Amino acid sequence: MDLNALIRDVPDFPKPGVLFKDITPLLADPKAFGYVVARMAAHYAKASLGAIAAAEARGFLFAAPLALELNLPLVPLRKPGKLPYKTHSFRYDLEYGSAELHMHIDGVAAGARVLLVDDVLATGGTMAAAGKLIEQAGGTVAGCAFLIELGFLGGRAHLPGYEVFSLLTY
Ligand code: PRP
Repeated sequence: MDLNALIRDVPDFPKPGVLFKDITPLLADPKAFGYVVARMAAHYAKASLGAIAAAEARGFLFAAPLALELNLPLVPLRKPGKLPYKTHSFRYDLEYGSAELHMHIDGVAAGARVLLVDDVLATGGTMAAAGKLIEQAGGTVAGCAFLIELGFLGGRAHLPGYEVFSLLTY
């Protein structure tokens, strides 16, 4: 299946000089969307996972159907002020300023092998923070699955020791 044909390049979004990879054409194609989830599910079918975690918002789009497909708990990682119960949090640097991800303190059981899922691996900052949250809770990162890896940004270097699986690399 030609997934690449369903990723739309949008120049100068969200700021001048950035070529944004828009996944909405793929989401609008149930066959292609299902194929992506099936490929991820096949890759991790024998990984003895305990949970799937993903950061808002676009990560949820892939993590939710994958969690159902693999019959695993889904753990949302959210920006500050969104989760209602007690949380672990991890702050990380962005190009300008910083961001913070939160997870409920009971989101991941101690010793659980957790798969991290996102639509795009760019600098790796979001996934590295997600991994720290899982580890703070006593879990381990069993892998990181992406639809798209922007290889020229070198995000893998921020995920040392984690298995990385991506369907499309630019
Ligand atoms: C995007 C994307 C990843 C992250 C990748 O999310 O969905 O989560 O950036 O970038 P990184 O590898 O440099 O951390 P964004 O923060 O734009 O939020 P959204 O999913 O809510 O649109």
